[in-house]
Amino acid sequence: MCGIFAYLNHLTPKTRKEVLDFLVNGLKRLEYRGYDSAGIAVDSADGRNVSIIKKNGKVQALQDEIYSREADLAFEATADCHVGIAHTRWATHGTPSERNAHPQRSDEDNTFCLVHNGIITNYKDIKLFLTKKGHTFESETDTEIIAKLMMHIYKKNPNDTFQEIVEQCIQQLEGAFALCIKSKLFPGECVATRRGSPLLVAIKTKTRLATDHIPILYGKDLVTSLDFRPHGGTAAETLTAASLMPRTPSTAEFQPMEEDKQVEYFFASDASAVIEHTNRVIFLEDDDVAAVKDGTLSIHRIRRNMDDPHAREITTIKMEIQQIMKGNYSFFMQKEIFEQPESVVNTMRGRVNFDTQSIVLGGIKEYIPEIKRCRRLMLIACGTSYHSAVATRQLLEELTELPVMVELASDFLDRNTPVFRDDVCFFISQSGETADTLMALRYCKNRGALIVGVTNTVGSSICRESHCGVHINAGPEIGVASTKAYTSQFISLVMFGMVMSEDRISLQQRRRDIMKGLQQLEEQIKEVLKLDSKVQELAKDLYQNKSLLIMGRGYNFATCMEGALKVKELTYMHSEGIMAGELKHGPLALVDETMPVIMIVMRDPVYTKCMNALQQVTARQGQPILICEKGDKDTQEFASRVLEVPHTVDCLQGILTVIPLQLLSYHIAVLKGCNVDCPRNLAKSVTVE
Ligand code: F6R
Repeated sequence: MCGIFAYLNHLTPKTRKEVLDFLVNGLKRLEYRGYDSAGIAVDSADGRNVSIIKKNGKVQALQDEIYSREADLAFEATADCHVGIAHTRWATHGTPSERNAHPQRSDEDNTFCLVHNGIITNYKDIKLFLTKKGHTFESETDTEIIAKLMMHIYKKNPNDTFQEIVEQCIQQLEGAFALCIKSKLFPGECVATRRGSPLLVAIKTKTRLATDHIPILYGKDLVTSLDFRPHGGTAAETLTAASLMPRTPSTAEFQPMEEDKQVEYFFASDASAVIEHTNRVIFLEDDDVAAVKDGTLSIHRIRRNMDDPHAREITTIKMEIQQIMKGNYSFFMQKEIFEQPESVVNTMRGRVNFDTQSIVLGGIKEYIPEIKRCRRLMLIACGTSYHSAVATRQLLEELTELPVMVELASDFLDRNTPVFRDDVCFFISQSGETADTLMALRYCKNRGALIVGVTNTVGSSICRESHCGVHINAGPEIGVASTKAYTSQFISLVMFGMVMSEDRISLQQRRRDIMKGLQQLEEQIKEVLKLDSKVQELAKDLYQNKSLLIMGRGYNFATCMEGALKVKELTYMHSEGIMAGELKHGPLALVDETMPVIMIVMRDPVYTKCMNALQQVTARQGQPILICEKGDKDTQEFASRVLEVPHTVDCLQGILTVIPLQLLSYHIAVLKGCNVDCPRNLAKSVTVE
């Protein structure tokens, strides 16, 4: 959803321009997460105040604004120690506007300024409480109440440290948040915290870090209770001074070594924003409060749960800067479509051994015996990730001989679906942060099911909260529309089916066919990508239409739904994926000589049925555009235009048939002048329910 980036330099001289550029570039890397407005808070040129700059629209507008104030912002002045926070927003509470953009502030003096991802569900109660205390509000956001609550707590306890103020504040918040806070009262300090929204701290020092862990400091509950519950009558307040247990000694903090006091910290909602600076990061956990003071990072928690580790690990992330650059492509989505020959190989790398015809999934190996004993498999996800589950369901039923339920996470929760201890629940998510999927995961975990995560993001919430899992290794996906993650999720689930059927004698030939198919995928995807210019021509014919139907069945029904989702999200054109078997139960009424129809007809077990559907369409003067197997002249006879893809084993065919539709949605979007990487109203990682 929204993106957070903050930068703190300690005894590391930087010009103010450098600091501003870091902030803006950090936001640009995060822009795919949300993009209706952006803002920053930095020290004012005289160092005594905090300046906030906000702009509606894209990060570029914010950058232009900053550059137009070069003199004001004293670009050439140098700061040895400085804290800047920045945000790109995807509106939830309040329209996109400068007023509602972040940073939000506590008062006109910008005493506390903060950036926030997530939603505060009890913000109305807190707002009422604070209004009664005399605070006035300038935005429609839920975020503003956090800054004002900090101010309120500070006024009650003026001797509290910055981190203590934040700790007291977050105890009052319900909902989801990742926060980065800067305060005029605590120059050179930054405090960050999260609950339900991702946040990481990255560390850059000149020499190698002396430690790989940051021990956690625990405190007693801070005695702050603000009664603003709606049914609590008047907003009575019982706020007393904070009383803290003595903290663990300061050796437990991360201090740069004596000879290396120069340190830089980056806070971000996503590793792609920090990777150009450092690859050493700590993924914060829910309710961690990370505070930097005098160049020292400490991580605090109010209380310790029994199964909590005592420290947070500093991990080295393996992302390369090139992976998050567009290179020669016009858009990230285009780049990601064309990366698929490589990304599918990366998904299989180190797992599939074509010589021995075996597959090992290290992340779930230990759990396979338990999975084999389960009552049923449940695949739970949203959007494109859900389609990857639909695409592989039939194969998983065949290879595991287990009932396989495929569920949309939001609907699954709405229904309070019964889940049992002997269920195995897969949560498929590119980002690993999708709120609905995460909620469904927690729901199933509480009922004792085994939780398997299938994600693309190391360190994501779904990764961390699963018992075991498969990392799809597709590489960073920046375009909001998911493409390479889909094909990699597809392959990950196929690999799982293969592992489950390893010792099934009756399935050996089937397994050999699938192995062969997996081995050929890289070359076959390259061949499909050669259709690009043909698809572009097709897009020219289609882009002015209002609607597009995509029909197929069996293994290719998921392709129809996924293709239609791509078309609607990127081009804003109505598009529907139709199960060809349902045609005569309603959708056929839509078909006439003007309605664009794409049909997927492969030489698989449902070929004859698909041909029937094709004839039903042509009999109504429909002019179907066909996606079919290369050289299948008999089928092509019925088509107005044809896109031929190579033949592969039926259960993998969906990987090849979806690519022309990814390309088609991309080209239509370009022709219509839509923002390909950032479609309107959408965000990459949907961290709100
Ligand atoms: C569509 C798309 C979305 C996501 C969905 C789930 O192109 O990207 O439908 O697939 O929001 O996101 P993840 O996979 O991150 O859980």
